[in-house]
Amino acid sequence: REDALVLGLESSCDETAAAILRADGTILAEAVLSQLEEHTPYGGVVPEIAARSHLAHLPALVRRVLDQAGTTPAGLAAVAATAGPGLIGGLIVGATLGKGMAIAQGIPYLAINHLEGHALTPRLPGVHPGGLAFPYLLLLLSGGHCQCVLVEGVARHRRLGTTLDDAVGEAFDKSAKLLGLPWPGGPHLERLAASGDAKRFSLPRPLYGREGCDFSFSGLKTAVANIVAKGLDDQGRADVAAGFQAAVSATLANRAAHALAMAPGATALVVSGGVAANQGIRTALAAVAAQAGLPLVAPPIRLCTDNAVMIAWAGIERLRAGLTEGLDHAPRPRWPL
Ligand code: KG4
Ligand code: ZN
Repeated sequence: REDALVLGLESSCDETAAAILRADGTILAEAVLSQLEEHTPYGGVVPEIAARSHLAHLPALVRRVLDQAGTTPAGLAAVAATAGPGLIGGLIVGATLGKGMAIAQGIPYLAINHLEGHALTPRLPGVHPGGLAFPYLLLLLSGGHCQCVLVEGVARHRRLGTTLDDAVGEAFDKSAKLLGLPWPGGPHLERLAASGDAKRFSLPRPLYGREGCDFSFSGLKTAVANIVAKGLDDQGRADVAAGFQAAVSATLANRAAHALAMAPGATALVVSGGVAANQGIRTALAAVAAQAGLPLVAPPIRLCTDNAVMIAWAGIERLRAGLTEGLDHAPRPRWPL
Protein backbone atom coordinates (compact mmCIF):
# COMPACT_ATOMS: atom_id res chain seq x y z
CA ARG A 1 0.00 0.00 0.00
CA GLU A 2 1.37 3.37 -1.03
CA ASP A 3 0.34 5.06 2.24
CA ALA A 4 2.04 2.48 4.47
CA LEU A 5 4.70 3.92 6.80
CA VAL A 6 8.14 2.34 7.19
CA LEU A 7 10.61 3.17 9.97
CA GLY A 8 14.32 2.99 9.10
CA LEU A 9 17.13 2.66 11.67
CA GLU A 10 20.85 3.15 11.04
CA SER A 11 23.56 2.43 13.65
CA SER A 12 26.34 0.62 11.81
CA CYS A 13 29.12 3.16 12.37
CA ASP A 14 29.21 6.58 14.01
CA GLU A 15 25.90 8.05 12.87
CA THR A 16 22.76 7.34 14.87
CA ALA A 17 19.82 7.81 12.51
CA ALA A 18 16.09 7.21 12.21
CA ALA A 19 13.61 8.07 9.45
CA ILE A 20 10.01 7.44 8.48
CA LEU A 21 9.04 7.14 4.83
CA ARG A 22 5.74 6.56 3.15
CA ALA A 23 5.84 3.60 0.76
CA ASP A 24 5.61 6.00 -2.21
CA GLY A 25 9.03 7.36 -1.14
CA THR A 26 7.86 10.53 0.59
CA ILE A 27 10.16 11.37 3.51
CA LEU A 28 7.93 12.21 6.47
CA ALA A 29 10.67 12.53 9.09
CA GLU A 30 14.42 12.10 9.30
CA ALA A 31 17.03 12.65 11.99
CA VAL A 32 20.76 12.00 12.17
CA LEU A 33 22.97 12.37 15.24
CA SER A 34 26.68 12.42 14.53
CA GLN A 35 28.98 10.97 17.19
CA LEU A 36 31.88 12.94 15.74
CA GLU A 37 32.64 14.82 18.95
CA GLU A 38 32.71 11.64 21.02
CA HIS A 39 35.31 10.02 18.74
CA THR A 40 37.41 13.06 17.77
CA PRO A 41 39.75 12.82 20.82
CA TYR A 42 40.75 9.35 19.58
CA GLY A 43 41.25 10.33 15.93
CA GLY A 44 38.83 7.66 14.71
CA VAL A 45 35.71 5.70 15.58
CA VAL A 46 35.97 3.72 18.83
CA PRO A 47 33.56 0.74 18.53
CA GLU A 48 32.66 0.52 22.22
CA ILE A 49 31.90 4.24 22.45
CA ALA A 50 29.87 4.02 19.25
CA ALA A 51 27.72 1.14 20.54
CA ARG A 52 27.02 2.81 23.86
CA SER A 53 26.14 6.07 22.15
CA HIS A 54 23.68 4.35 19.79
CA LEU A 55 22.10 2.65 22.81
CA ALA A 56 21.79 5.99 24.60
CA HIS A 57 20.35 7.95 21.68
CA LEU A 58 18.50 5.74 19.20
CA PRO A 59 15.27 5.21 21.21
CA ALA A 60 14.77 8.96 21.73
CA LEU A 61 15.52 9.55 18.06
CA VAL A 62 12.79 7.06 17.12
CA ARG A 63 10.39 8.94 19.38
CA ARG A 64 11.35 12.18 17.64
CA VAL A 65 10.73 10.92 14.10
CA LEU A 66 7.43 9.32 15.14
CA ASP A 67 6.31 12.69 16.53
CA GLN A 68 7.57 14.52 13.43
CA ALA A 69 5.67 12.14 11.18
CA GLY A 70 2.59 12.53 13.37
CA THR A 71 2.31 8.83 14.04
CA THR A 72 2.93 6.18 16.72
CA PRO A 73 4.46 2.70 16.57
CA ALA A 74 0.94 1.39 15.88
CA GLY A 75 0.89 3.44 12.67
CA LEU A 76 3.93 1.66 11.20
CA ALA A 77 3.66 -1.04 8.54
CA ALA A 78 7.24 -2.33 8.87
CA VAL A 79 10.58 -1.65 10.53
CA ALA A 80 13.84 -1.74 8.57
CA ALA A 81 17.19 -1.74 10.39
CA THR A 82 20.77 -1.85 9.17
CA ALA A 83 21.93 -5.39 9.96
CA GLY A 84 25.44 -5.14 8.50
CA PRO A 85 28.14 -4.59 7.46
CA GLY A 86 29.52 -2.46 10.26
CA LEU A 87 30.55 -2.41 13.91
CA ILE A 88 28.77 -5.28 15.63
CA GLY A 89 27.86 -3.42 18.83
CA GLY A 90 26.00 -0.70 16.97
CA LEU A 91 24.36 -3.18 14.60
CA ILE A 92 23.00 -5.14 17.56
CA VAL A 93 21.51 -1.98 19.07
CA GLY A 94 19.61 -1.02 15.88
CA ALA A 95 18.56 -4.54 14.93
CA THR A 96 17.33 -5.35 18.44
CA LEU A 97 15.31 -2.16 18.74
CA GLY A 98 13.85 -2.81 15.28
CA LYS A 99 12.96 -6.40 16.09
CA GLY A 100 11.42 -5.38 19.41
CA MET A 101 9.17 -2.83 17.72
CA ALA A 102 8.23 -5.34 15.00
CA ILE A 103 7.29 -7.97 17.59
CA ALA A 104 5.29 -5.50 19.64
CA GLN A 105 3.33 -4.28 16.62
CA GLY A 106 3.10 -7.61 14.79
CA ILE A 107 4.64 -6.09 11.64
CA PRO A 108 7.49 -7.24 9.36
CA TYR A 109 11.11 -6.70 10.34
CA LEU A 110 13.53 -6.04 7.47
CA ALA A 111 17.26 -6.68 7.90
CA ILE A 112 18.93 -4.23 5.55
CA ASN A 113 22.43 -4.40 4.13
CA HIS A 114 23.88 -0.92 4.64
CA LEU A 115 25.54 -1.06 1.21
CA GLU A 116 22.21 -1.89 -0.41
CA GLY A 117 20.83 1.19 1.33
CA HIS A 118 23.48 3.33 -0.36
CA ALA A 119 22.90 1.46 -3.63
CA LEU A 120 19.13 2.01 -3.80
CA THR A 121 19.05 5.64 -2.56
CA PRO A 122 19.33 7.14 -6.07
CA ARG A 123 15.96 5.49 -6.84
CA LEU A 124 14.19 7.58 -4.20
CA PRO A 125 11.60 9.72 -5.99
CA GLY A 126 12.99 13.17 -6.70
CA VAL A 127 16.67 12.21 -6.76
CA HIS A 128 16.78 11.69 -10.51
CA PRO A 129 14.17 13.28 -12.78
CA GLY A 130 11.80 10.57 -13.99
CA GLY A 131 13.33 7.99 -11.65
CA LEU A 132 16.35 5.77 -12.05
CA ALA A 133 15.92 2.41 -13.81
CA PHE A 134 18.01 -0.73 -13.28
CA PRO A 135 20.73 -1.52 -14.13
CA TYR A 136 23.04 1.31 -13.11
CA LEU A 137 26.65 1.53 -12.10
CA LEU A 138 27.30 2.59 -8.53
CA LEU A 139 30.56 3.98 -7.21
CA LEU A 140 30.34 3.78 -3.44
CA LEU A 141 33.01 6.08 -2.06
CA SER A 142 33.09 6.42 1.70
CA GLY A 143 35.39 6.13 4.68
CA GLY A 144 34.73 2.44 5.09
CA HIS A 145 33.80 1.35 1.58
CA CYS A 146 35.18 1.73 -1.88
CA GLN A 147 33.35 -0.38 -4.41
CA CYS A 148 32.10 -0.40 -7.92
CA VAL A 149 28.81 -2.26 -8.17
CA LEU A 150 26.40 -2.94 -11.02
CA VAL A 151 22.97 -2.63 -9.42
CA GLU A 152 20.72 -4.90 -11.49
CA GLY A 153 17.69 -4.98 -9.22
CA VAL A 154 16.54 -5.20 -5.62
CA ALA A 155 18.87 -7.75 -3.99
CA ARG A 156 20.60 -8.19 -7.34
CA HIS A 157 24.10 -6.73 -7.50
CA ARG A 158 27.31 -7.53 -9.29
CA ARG A 159 30.48 -6.25 -7.71
CA LEU A 160 32.82 -5.24 -10.51
CA GLY A 161 35.67 -3.88 -8.40
CA THR A 162 36.76 -3.03 -4.90
CA THR A 163 39.75 -1.55 -3.11
CA LEU A 164 42.80 -3.73 -2.64
CA ASP A 165 43.82 -1.79 0.48
CA ASP A 166 42.36 1.47 1.85
CA ALA A 167 38.93 2.91 1.13
CA VAL A 168 39.10 6.24 -0.68
CA GLY A 169 37.76 8.20 2.31
CA GLU A 170 40.35 6.50 4.48
CA ALA A 171 43.06 7.67 2.06
CA PHE A 172 41.71 11.22 2.32
CA ASP A 173 41.63 10.99 6.11
CA LYS A 174 45.14 9.52 6.46
CA SER A 175 46.69 11.99 4.04
CA ALA A 176 44.88 14.87 5.71
CA LYS A 177 46.26 13.75 9.06
CA LEU A 178 49.78 13.75 7.59
CA LEU A 179 49.13 17.33 6.47
CA GLY A 180 48.14 18.27 10.02
CA LEU A 181 44.40 18.60 9.32
CA PRO A 182 41.66 17.64 11.80
CA TRP A 183 39.81 14.31 11.57
CA PRO A 184 37.86 13.38 9.47
CA GLY A 185 40.11 15.12 6.99
CA GLY A 186 38.35 14.75 3.63
CA PRO A 187 36.51 18.09 3.59
CA HIS A 188 39.51 19.91 5.14
CA LEU A 189 41.83 18.48 2.51
CA GLU A 190 39.46 19.59 -0.25
CA ARG A 191 39.44 23.14 1.14
CA LEU A 192 43.25 23.22 1.42
CA ALA A 193 43.61 21.86 -2.12
CA ALA A 194 41.70 24.84 -3.50
CA SER A 195 44.74 27.10 -2.89
CA GLY A 196 47.32 24.58 -4.09
CA ASP A 197 49.13 23.83 -7.33
CA ALA A 198 48.25 20.28 -8.33
CA LYS A 199 51.20 20.08 -10.74
CA ARG A 200 53.98 20.81 -8.24
CA PHE A 201 54.21 17.28 -6.87
CA SER A 202 53.54 14.33 -9.07
CA LEU A 203 51.75 11.74 -6.99
CA PRO A 204 51.16 8.13 -8.05
CA ARG A 205 47.88 7.06 -9.67
CA PRO A 206 47.63 3.47 -8.49
CA LEU A 207 46.10 0.99 -10.99
CA TYR A 208 45.52 3.81 -13.51
CA GLY A 209 45.00 2.23 -16.91
CA ARG A 210 45.04 -1.26 -15.45
CA GLU A 211 42.30 -3.66 -16.55
CA GLY A 212 39.08 -3.87 -14.50
CA CYS A 213 37.97 -1.38 -11.88
CA ASP A 214 39.70 -2.32 -8.64
CA PHE A 215 41.14 0.51 -6.57
CA SER A 216 44.29 0.97 -4.50
CA PHE A 217 45.16 3.98 -2.38
CA SER A 218 47.82 2.99 0.14
CA GLY A 219 50.70 3.88 -2.24
CA LEU A 220 49.29 7.36 -2.61
CA LYS A 221 49.21 7.83 1.14
CA THR A 222 52.82 6.61 1.38
CA ALA A 223 53.86 9.10 -1.30
CA VAL A 224 52.23 11.90 0.70
CA ALA A 225 54.04 10.72 3.84
CA ASN A 226 57.38 10.79 2.02
CA ILE A 227 56.87 14.36 0.79
CA VAL A 228 55.67 15.55 4.20
CA ALA A 229 58.71 13.97 5.88
CA LYS A 230 61.00 16.31 3.93
CA GLY A 231 59.28 19.32 5.46
CA LEU A 232 56.68 21.65 3.93
CA ASP A 233 55.61 25.26 4.31
CA ASP A 234 51.92 26.24 4.11
CA GLN A 235 51.95 26.61 0.34
CA GLY A 236 53.68 23.24 0.08
CA ARG A 237 50.93 21.59 2.13
CA ALA A 238 48.30 23.11 -0.14
CA ASP A 239 50.21 21.90 -3.20
CA VAL A 240 50.36 18.35 -1.81
CA ALA A 241 46.63 18.46 -1.04
CA ALA A 242 45.89 19.63 -4.59
CA GLY A 243 48.17 16.96 -6.06
CA PHE A 244 46.55 14.29 -3.92
CA GLN A 245 43.04 15.30 -4.93
CA ALA A 246 44.01 15.43 -8.61
CA ALA A 247 45.54 11.96 -8.40
CA VAL A 248 42.48 10.50 -6.68
CA SER A 249 40.08 12.18 -9.13
CA ALA A 250 42.03 10.96 -12.16
CA THR A 251 42.24 7.43 -10.76
CA LEU A 252 38.54 7.26 -9.90
CA ALA A 253 37.63 8.60 -13.34
CA ASN A 254 39.80 5.98 -15.00
CA ARG A 255 38.35 3.15 -12.91
CA ALA A 256 34.80 4.40 -13.58
CA ALA A 257 35.46 4.50 -17.33
CA HIS A 258 36.62 0.87 -17.22
CA ALA A 259 33.60 -0.11 -15.15
CA LEU A 260 31.21 1.52 -17.62
CA ALA A 261 32.86 -0.47 -20.41
CA MET A 262 32.19 -3.63 -18.36
CA ALA A 263 28.51 -2.71 -17.97
CA PRO A 264 27.19 -1.83 -21.43
CA GLY A 265 23.51 -1.77 -20.35
CA ALA A 266 23.94 0.73 -17.53
CA THR A 267 21.47 3.63 -17.51
CA ALA A 268 23.57 5.95 -15.33
CA LEU A 269 26.74 6.41 -13.34
CA VAL A 270 25.83 6.90 -9.69
CA VAL A 271 28.20 8.21 -7.04
CA SER A 272 27.45 7.91 -3.33
CA GLY A 273 29.20 7.84 0.05
CA GLY A 274 30.74 10.74 1.95
CA VAL A 275 33.52 11.27 -0.60
CA ALA A 276 30.85 12.05 -3.21
CA ALA A 277 30.74 15.49 -1.55
CA ASN A 278 34.09 16.28 -3.19
CA GLN A 279 33.57 18.69 -6.10
CA GLY A 280 36.79 17.78 -7.91
CA ILE A 281 35.82 14.12 -7.90
CA ARG A 282 32.28 14.89 -9.03
CA THR A 283 33.55 16.96 -11.94
CA ALA A 284 35.92 14.19 -13.04
CA LEU A 285 33.17 11.57 -12.85
CA ALA A 286 30.67 13.78 -14.66
CA ALA A 287 33.10 13.96 -17.59
CA VAL A 288 33.42 10.17 -17.70
CA ALA A 289 29.66 9.71 -17.61
CA ALA A 290 29.14 12.32 -20.33
CA GLN A 291 31.68 10.55 -22.52
CA ALA A 292 29.59 7.38 -22.21
CA GLY A 293 26.42 9.38 -22.96
CA LEU A 294 25.07 8.76 -19.46
CA PRO A 295 23.96 11.02 -16.63
CA LEU A 296 25.99 11.27 -13.43
CA VAL A 297 23.55 10.87 -10.57
CA ALA A 298 24.62 12.04 -7.12
CA PRO A 299 22.02 12.05 -4.36
CA PRO A 300 21.97 15.15 -2.12
CA ILE A 301 24.87 15.01 0.34
CA ARG A 302 22.70 14.24 3.38
CA LEU A 303 21.52 11.10 1.54
CA CYS A 304 25.08 10.24 0.36
CA THR A 305 26.49 10.08 3.88
CA ASP A 306 25.14 7.62 6.43
CA ASN A 307 21.45 8.15 7.14
CA ALA A 308 18.28 6.21 7.88
CA VAL A 309 16.23 7.43 4.91
CA MET A 310 18.23 5.05 2.74
CA ILE A 311 17.52 2.16 5.11
CA ALA A 312 13.76 2.81 5.17
CA TRP A 313 13.78 3.15 1.38
CA ALA A 314 15.68 -0.12 0.91
CA GLY A 315 13.05 -1.67 3.20
CA ILE A 316 10.27 -0.34 0.99
CA GLU A 317 11.95 -1.67 -2.15
CA ARG A 318 12.36 -5.06 -0.45
CA LEU A 319 8.76 -5.16 0.75
CA ARG A 320 7.63 -4.43 -2.80
CA ALA A 321 9.82 -7.25 -4.07
CA GLY A 322 8.31 -9.57 -1.45
CA LEU A 323 11.56 -9.95 0.46
CA THR A 324 11.32 -9.88 4.26
CA GLU A 325 13.77 -11.31 6.75
CA GLY A 326 12.71 -13.39 9.73
CA LEU A 327 13.18 -12.18 13.27
CA ASP A 328 16.04 -14.68 13.58
CA HIS A 329 18.29 -12.69 11.24
CA ALA A 330 21.63 -12.09 13.00
CA PRO A 331 23.53 -8.83 12.38
CA ARG A 332 26.59 -9.41 10.21
CA PRO A 333 29.74 -7.27 10.73
CA ARG A 334 30.92 -8.49 7.33
CA TRP A 335 28.27 -8.68 4.66
CA PRO A 336 29.39 -8.16 1.09
CA LEU A 337 26.75 -7.10 -1.40
O1 KG4 B 1 29.79 7.92 3.94
P1 KG4 B 1 30.49 8.56 5.08
O2 KG4 B 1 29.85 9.73 5.75
O3 KG4 B 1 30.78 7.53 6.23
C1 KG4 B 1 31.30 6.26 6.03
O4 KG4 B 1 32.53 6.16 5.89
O5 KG4 B 1 30.50 5.30 6.00
O6 KG4 B 1 31.94 8.98 4.55
C2 KG4 B 1 32.87 9.62 5.37
C3 KG4 B 1 34.14 9.83 4.56
C4 KG4 B 1 35.28 10.32 5.41
O7 KG4 B 1 36.44 9.58 5.08
C5 KG4 B 1 35.42 11.79 4.96
O8 KG4 B 1 36.71 12.31 5.11
C6 KG4 B 1 35.01 11.68 3.52
O9 KG4 B 1 33.92 10.80 3.52
N1 KG4 B 1 34.63 13.00 2.96
C7 KG4 B 1 35.28 13.63 1.96
C8 KG4 B 1 34.62 14.86 1.76
N2 KG4 B 1 33.58 14.94 2.63
C9 KG4 B 1 33.59 13.78 3.35
N3 KG4 B 1 36.36 13.26 1.25
C10 KG4 B 1 36.78 14.10 0.30
N4 KG4 B 1 36.23 15.31 0.04
C11 KG4 B 1 35.14 15.72 0.74
N5 KG4 B 1 34.59 16.91 0.49
ZN1 ZN C 1 27.82 4.26 4.64
